[in-house]
Amino acid sequence: MKFGVLTGGGDCPGLNAVIRAITRKAVDVSGDTVIGFYDSWDGVLEQRYINLDTLTVRGILPRGGTILGTRRGSPFDKPDGVDRVAQTFKDLKLDGLIVIGGNGSLTVASMLHTKHGLPMIGVPKTIDNDVVGTDATFGFQTAVQIATDAIDRLHTTAESHDRVMVVEVMGRDAGWIALHAGIAGGATAILVPEVPFDIDDVSEIVKRRHNRGRYASVVVVAEGARPKSGTFEMPERKLDRYGREQLGDIAHVIAPEISARTGFESRVVQLGHIQRGGTPTSYDRVLSTRFGLAAVDAVHRKLFGQMVVLKSGEITCTDMSVTANQTKTIDLTLFADVAATFFG
Ligand code: F6P
Repeated sequence: MKFGVLTGGGDCPGLNAVIRAITRKAVDVSGDTVIGFYDSWDGVLEQRYINLDTLTVRGILPRGGTILGTRRGSPFDKPDGVDRVAQTFKDLKLDGLIVIGGNGSLTVASMLHTKHGLPMIGVPKTIDNDVVGTDATFGFQTAVQIATDAIDRLHTTAESHDRVMVVEVMGRDAGWIALHAGIAGGATAILVPEVPFDIDDVSEIVKRRHNRGRYASVVVVAEGARPKSGTFEMPERKLDRYGREQLGDIAHVIAPEISARTGFESRVVQLGHIQRGGTPTSYDRVLSTRFGLAAVDAVHRKLFGQMVVLKSGEITCTDMSVTANQTKTIDLTLFADVAATFFG
């Protein structure tokens, strides 16, 4: 068979491991031809690609980022975008396309399949772990480890100065990284988009901790966390070029509010794209590898419209349309029963 592969949306550790697994299985084992489109859908529209083989994927297993490049955006943004995708399929005689992406790219791939009959297979990725239909996405565990390591380091400097460290992590619509890194790092409080926070309650938690004789607090906040309505107003946010709210201000907003209420000095640490860079953990490399191999099987079995997923430890397939405009939000029991036990 001959098929393409692309990486879409924000990059994440493990993308190269998927590309390698796809190439090694398809080209070396099955004798397929695999082409890697550059820069996500742009490469499909403009027919910019590379022929993938053992040599082109050599050494990329531990490398972060994606050798193919990635972009946000979709063929549906352009008037002739879908026709051009279909033309590329025809011109290159493709039997399928593996789309490695998050909610946005998988929704696009699903629509191209259901509405336009194009043979798509999805592979879910994102550090945010917010794709519906899979127990986990690769990249998430790496991001959590990076955030946990940072929190561990911040504890000692916070203790030395008796400060409140407000650590902002990624998580626009779902607080998975904040929740897991917060639990692993022993956070004083964790603020996530799913559970609007009351800044007075957060400040009380900090005071209570210090009254018990503990020095220093680390408040972990997801970038998409929001205050309970009627508590305090967030400054109005601009939209970025993709129409998303420009986040990245929440830690700077809440740190002075906590200081004002508690009297403790606060400092802000924004981990930002450090969470997305660098080498994937071994867990993510294994998950990426399993996903890549399963995606090739899915192409061979012509399971178009499906994506490979992790379910109770097994790799299986599910309809890609489950991702359409959906977000897998955090496990609220984990938040309430586990994380919250240690607040304060
Ligand atoms: O890919 C997901 C994500 O890392 C989100 O957590 C974050 O809000 C966003 O990407 C940042 O996007 P960009 O890289 O375009 O600034």
